[in-house]
Amino acid sequence: KRKRDHGRAPVAEPPSNPTPNSPVTTNSKATQASRNEDSHVPLKKSVSSAPEKQKFKNLSTLHSRNPPNKKSDKPPHKSSAKRDALLHFRKTLPIWPHAQQIRKSLSTKDVLLLVGETGSGKSTQIPQFLLSESWCTKCIAVTQPRRVAAISLARRVAEEMGSQLGMPWSTVGYSVRFDHCAGPSTRIKYLTEGMLLQEMLRDPELKQYSAVVVDEVHERSVNVDMIMGFLRALVTRDRGKRKANPLKVAVMSATADMEGLTKFFDDGYAALEKSEDDLENVKSRMEDETRTVSSSKAGQPQQQADDNKPFEESKHISTCFIEGRQYPVKIVYLPEPTLDIVEAALKSVFQIHYKEPLPGDILVFLTGQETVESLERLVNEFALSMGPEIPKILALPLFAALPQASQQKIFQRTPPKTRKVIISTNIAETSVTVPGVRYVVDSGKAKIKQFSNRLGLDSLLVKPISQSSATQRKGRAGREAAGQCYRLYTETSYTEMQKASTPEILRCDLSSAILTMKARGINDVVNFPFLDRPSMDAFAKALLQLYQLGTLNDDGGINETGRQLAKLPLTPMLGRIIVEAAKPERDCLVDVIDIIAALSVESIFLNLATEEKKERAEEARKELLRREGDHLTMLAAVRGYAAEQSDRRAWAEKYFVSHRAMQNVMNIRKQLRAQCKQLSLLPSTSLDDPTTSTSTSMSEDHTNAILQCILRGFPVNSARLMPDGSYKTLPGNQAVAIHPSSVLFGRKVEAIVFSEFVFTSKSYARGVSAVRLGWVDEVLGG
Ligand code: CDP
Repeated sequence: KRKRDHGRAPVAEPPSNPTPNSPVTTNSKATQASRNEDSHVPLKKSVSSAPEKQKFKNLSTLHSRNPPNKKSDKPPHKSSAKRDALLHFRKTLPIWPHAQQIRKSLSTKDVLLLVGETGSGKSTQIPQFLLSESWCTKCIAVTQPRRVAAISLARRVAEEMGSQLGMPWSTVGYSVRFDHCAGPSTRIKYLTEGMLLQEMLRDPELKQYSAVVVDEVHERSVNVDMIMGFLRALVTRDRGKRKANPLKVAVMSATADMEGLTKFFDDGYAALEKSEDDLENVKSRMEDETRTVSSSKAGQPQQQADDNKPFEESKHISTCFIEGRQYPVKIVYLPEPTLDIVEAALKSVFQIHYKEPLPGDILVFLTGQETVESLERLVNEFALSMGPEIPKILALPLFAALPQASQQKIFQRTPPKTRKVIISTNIAETSVTVPGVRYVVDSGKAKIKQFSNRLGLDSLLVKPISQSSATQRKGRAGREAAGQCYRLYTETSYTEMQKASTPEILRCDLSSAILTMKARGINDVVNFPFLDRPSMDAFAKALLQLYQLGTLNDDGGINETGRQLAKLPLTPMLGRIIVEAAKPERDCLVDVIDIIAALSVESIFLNLATEEKKERAEEARKELLRREGDHLTMLAAVRGYAAEQSDRRAWAEKYFVSHRAMQNVMNIRKQLRAQCKQLSLLPSTSLDDPTTSTSTSMSEDHTNAILQCILRGFPVNSARLMPDGSYKTLPGNQAVAIHPSSVLFGRKVEAIVFSEFVFTSKSYARGVSAVRLGWVDEVLGG
């Protein structure tokens, strides 16, 4: 049974008013948080004693042969004892004994493929191993599929190297969408895959890097597949472009299909050798012809090349397998399937808590922010009724949109007589290593993005995970000692799961990927070296969508609008809305940025568990509701929050808005404004005053302009009212219902545009605005 919600759940919150202007690039929250933390640590005056000096010297040379700035050697804030302890820890990692082998492999070859279980030390140690190599004169990029991992790894490695994040002389940095913390001295940069792709647009040969480490390749996001294709070309076909300083590539994975990856690079080298042979042949033939020497000589190069084929696997690529540490994990299945995974997870958490001794934290895998927050609330409520003899519970959520400072809490040591319960989406499956976990509760589900053929767009669906994901999740319980894994599904369901997950590129919309390729000058996108080639149908649909967005010329080449979109860290749809809003006849970019910032977080409105709360929220939110629909309601909420100067947390509580999500929205809006200024879409006149555009009333013309911009970005997500009161999509004529969470739920308007499609019991449009049929015709016709 579920208890009532007693006021605000005691959730982890970051500091509310970050001070602007970090010393390096942006005034990111991460940098701020790092400085706040540092300020609690007593400042170290100087390294005085001789042995201490020696130790210090050893450490700094271990990490960096040529530190870019002497200051990085002398972090004033961390004691050498702490670094010694970290060094001691690093030496116990399974990867440590392989350091020499790894260095050697990359000094002789350009590509290293490395397999090692999660937690073996790949992400934190490999860049440190490589930093002192003679070929490594520039920066090392380490890509991550998720921003949480990029930031937490940068923080961890900075600590291990005795460096600070966010200082002009910092050796370690990171770059994620809407948050950059890197400077000219950065030598190890953790960045999301999307950010590396963005950098490739500006610097196609990645000249600022000596090496790129592609981490978590097994996740097989569309972005990592693209990166792999580009990198293969850089180490093979385009190697000559960086003759003096060839790029080194390390590809790392917890579960990768190494054979597939080896073949992928081998094919690239084989094609290169073939073209070199062909060139040799042509050259020698020409020489032969001019010298008119005997025909027997001309055949020699061909003969030699044939002798070399097939060249050995080890010729260009090194492969390294790291043995992980894994204790036995007992699996407990449910005897019967459950419909309510949150409820089932709650039961398992308390069953473990009451039955199992400490220490031993619990890691719960749920599907998304909503289920994570709802379990977090329930755990906190139930914990209130535990007797004093029962150890305390510390519930910590973990999902992609969680602000950085809250995410960091999962890495902190569990307080005495307490059990940590980390409630996570599949982020913690391989991306983030949480220490202290001995119990895993696995819902067996994840939210995945999938292209809906019927509607012609991507949607997020809650789906069963694969057996390989279930194994990864289970493994999290056996890192430090024997553990247990509670699977919230039956053994039969497990056997019915797919063996491995389908790569994203085979199930998602390709428009973003194709736009990136076209912006990099690759017009023949179908023949791009994909790890898995998508179907022709998928290419055709994405190209059609890019045409509809007005980003391609008639010959299929990218046009100016397309180029602008490719530079924005947004999907082509959202990018198109921005570009439209910047047009003088629309003139509503500032408002549109606020809406897009709100769409970029999972939900700004709290998802309420009880009917009573829902009613109270409805009443409280009345002031923010806009009859035009959800997008303008979001805008009203963002403006209301931004205008609040004294207590934003209280404002959020009053309107049942997520303070946590709004902090993210504010950060994203700031970054988007800066990017739009950079692209000259927004005048560089100051918009930094937080009260700018906080007025809640606007003319009808202005709201119409905003809605038309949204429609320009989502032409295929439009539907019209049918005589029977239902809605059917305009392209495709498919039934779609307005989601109950929408402001327009139950209303009849002639046409709608929606920014998200969800499929549960039926097809729902979420994030819905009322538009005129005439506007839709105009967009679809033009
Ligand atoms: O990449 P891989 O999963 O092989 O391991 P890693 O991320 O390099 O982590 C190695 C170890 O460092 C983990 O087992 C954690 O104990 C620790 N670590 C940490 O404490 N905090 C982080 N943010 C990252 C790693």
